[in-house]
Parts: sequence; structure tokens; C-alpha cells
Amino acid sequence: MTFRAVPRNGCRPDMSKPRVLFVCLGNICRSPLAEAALRRAAAEAGFEVDIESAGTADYHVGEAPDPRAIEEARKYGIDIKEYRGRQLRPQDFREFDYILGMDRSNMANIARIDPGDGMAKVAMLLDIVPGQKGREVADPWFGELDGFSATWKEVDAGARALLEVLLEEHG
Ligand code: 4NP
Repeated sequence: MTFRAVPRNGCRPDMSKPRVLFVCLGNICRSPLAEAALRRAAAEAGFEVDIESAGTADYHVGEAPDPRAIEEARKYGIDIKEYRGRQLRPQDFREFDYILGMDRSNMANIARIDPGDGMAKVAMLLDIVPGQKGREVADPWFGELDGFSATWKEVDAGARALLEVLLEEHG
């Protein structure tokens, strides 16, 4: 388990429905796909969890996901076109149980926004996947369409590993 071990204030009872926030830079590619992957994995497992995503930047606030991300999620039967970009806020650290960044740059930005008095456990997503520690979910934004299928595979592996953690801690 690689989540921050430091006790934080205001911890919710472990049996309550957990709240998960996925974070990337723009909130139009990786974190909406991670959100979709966990929604799908949790539904398959019959596990209830609140899931959102956010970006550390405000570039795409109010926008729909990148069309390539919408298309990738559609392949797995998930419609993300109604998702809307929003920016990570200090209160998210008090309102979510888990905050997962995609790469080291996201983690640095997350730490900058963290007010330090929340309850959220913060980790880089692939750090919780066995054998993937230290790997980043690469930013597919500048790449080609096939980059998004690699992104899906990575965020889906992360979502499944996270679901195991959630089942252990809240199941
Ligand atoms: P994301 O990808 O962080 O996975 O949503 C990006 C989307 C937009 C930008 C960068 C990364 N951008 O610079 O606008």
C-alpha cells in the first residue's frame, strides 16, 4: 500500500461509500478515462463508489473530454461525452477519500493545491498497480489516436488495482 501513511484530520468511517477523485493536467484525456474505467470496474463488482475527475490546470474548465477520449471510452461501452472539465480545488482534499494523479508533474501540482488539512489519501495511480510502481500514465494529448488505447490500458489497470484497495478498506 503506497498511500500516504500520515494520519489526516476528519477521517470518515471506513465502511462509508468511498469518494475517489482522479486528477490529470487538463481533465479532458487521462482522468476522465480513469473515471470511466473505475465506474465500469465498480459496476461489474457491484461496489458503490462516488467518482469524479479534475485537472490541476484551468485550461479546459466546462469543456467536454477530448473526442479521442470519448471514442476510446465508447469502445468499452461507456459514454463520457457529458463529462465536463473542472479544476482541482483545496476543498477536494477534505471531500474525497482518495486522490489519484497520473504523472509526477500532476503530483507536484496536486501537492501545491493541497491545503494540508484534508482527509484524502493521495497517490500516483500506477504506484498502486503491482509491478508498476513509479510508472506514469503518459499524457496522450499531443499524440495520435492509438495513444488513447495505451492510456485506457494503463488507467484500467490502475482502476482495477484501486478497486481492490477500496474493497479491502470499505468493502
Ligand atoms: P490530460 O491531457 O491532462 O490527460 O487531460 C491534457 C489535456 C490538455 C492539455 C494538456 C494535457 N493542454 O495543455 O491543454
